[in-house]
Amino acid sequence: MIIAVDGPAASGKGTLARRLAGHFGLPHLDTGLLYRATADGVLAAGGDPEDAAAAAAAAARVDPGRLDTARLKRDDIAQAASRVAALPAVRRALLDLQRAFAHQPGGAVLDGRDIATVIAPDADAKLFVTATPAVRATRRLNELQGQGRPAIYADVLRDLLARDARDSQRASAPLTAVETALILDTSSLNADEAFDRALAFVVCAQSSR
Ligand code: C5P
Repeated sequence: MIIAVDGPAASGKGTLARRLAGHFGLPHLDTGLLYRATADGVLAAGGDPEDAAAAAAAAARVDPGRLDTARLKRDDIAQAASRVAALPAVRRALLDLQRAFAHQPGGAVLDGRDIATVIAPDADAKLFVTATPAVRATRRLNELQGQGRPAIYADVLRDLLARDARDSQRASAPLTAVETALILDTSSLNADEAFDRALAFVVCAQSSR
């Protein structure tokens, strides 16, 4: 069974995808890490995230088995990730490994922006997880403060909105919900409530396969 989980930053899609993967005993891929690792590669070499040749070369070097999640979660890397992610050459370089992950025997759970639209349009269950910008910014702020990193709400919100705009307005694989996806607005749900709703939907999709 393939489960596609798409949605904007800090919508709760990563937590949800991990829990679904744990529940069904499926491997999970956070595809945002691939774009973050690409951006990290460009920045580490002193390059420009909008330089298509440099970014595509960095994407080709990404090793999904060796991703330093803690480092890649930095906000400067997130912003640069959404710049490299707009480049078709980068998306092409990362396509095969994501498709292969999704279509491995037994299936998988992937979360990102284009799982249901590009990576696995044949997914058995498609979820589009969202929340209001204010709720997402507050969650991100709490996460940063919980890590002892000083942050200001207005800055966090501004960065989220900038990333939303780039991810939704780009020509190549923009963030969008497919018609058959469950739209799960987590603005007023806690993690358990979001999981219960997603699980009910996936179980239903699974039984009608
Ligand atoms: O999900 P996360 O916030 O880690 O993703 C970082 C960036 O990578 C996003 O802002 C988006 O631009 C890009 N991305 C993408 N397609 C995906 C996953 C992430 O374009 N499937």
